[in-house]
Amino acid sequence: MKHRIVIAIIGLVIIAAVLLLWSAKSGDLPNSSSRKANATSASQSQQSSSSTAAFDHTRYSVTDPNSIWVVVNKHHPLKPVNYAPQDLTSVSNGQVMRAEAATALTSMFAGAKTAGLTITAASAYRSYTTQVSVYNQEVANYGKAKADSESARPGFSEHQTGLAVDIAGGGCSITDCFGTTAEGKWATAHAYEYGFILRYTADKTPITGYRAEAWHFRYVGKDLALQMHKTGATTLEEFFTLDAAPDYY
Ligand code: DAL
Ligand code: ZN
Repeated sequence: MKHRIVIAIIGLVIIAAVLLLWSAKSGDLPNSSSRKANATSASQSQQSSSSTAAFDHTRYSVTDPNSIWVVVNKHHPLKPVNYAPQDLTSVSNGQVMRAEAATALTSMFAGAKTAGLTITAASAYRSYTTQVSVYNQEVANYGKAKADSESARPGFSEHQTGLAVDIAGGGCSITDCFGTTAEGKWATAHAYEYGFILRYTADKTPITGYRAEAWHFRYVGKDLALQMHKTGATTLEEFFTLDAAPDYY
């Protein structure tokens, strides 16, 4: 009889212990599953934030002449007006550009070659002093109004940033016919892949202040060029929500 009571007590203790363990374990379950759910949702939100991450329009300055996003137009001269880049590098044809732009242009030339086309740099970096000569010659040849529609005044030219290049090919150099050549069409279609944009298009003259220049490409870096390509933005003024600059103040 005594033995039976002892066995019954031991049995009850074992049952109580099992019940305690089970309840502790099942109490954990919601937490561990919610941790899993949290981890999953965190990873999903990371994925979704990286795939829909907003483009950071403020990543680089649009006023610093050393910035690859600098906007230079009839309302925004270079500051200082006689700015000169410090990292000019030879591209080809005796032309120089800022190092980063020169590397990109060399890649673009190679891309064109692969497509069976030859494009060259007709005019790249121009100093303030060179732009004085270019602009004065334009005024002498065509008068001030026409000159202002196709040549920047000294201190107002993208060429002075070392980030702009006039591209030639197919027998056309700084002439409208470049846009009709296979070379011009290729350059227009593929420039963004190398970080360049076609800066002056016919439909945006009221914004840029210049007539169409099928040959004038501006280096802005691959990220911005791709973003403009994807969003359909064709001018820096519109992309950065800056004022239109049809004329000088
Ligand atoms: N032809 C462009 C507008 C320049 O002179 O910079
Ligand atoms: Zn140009």
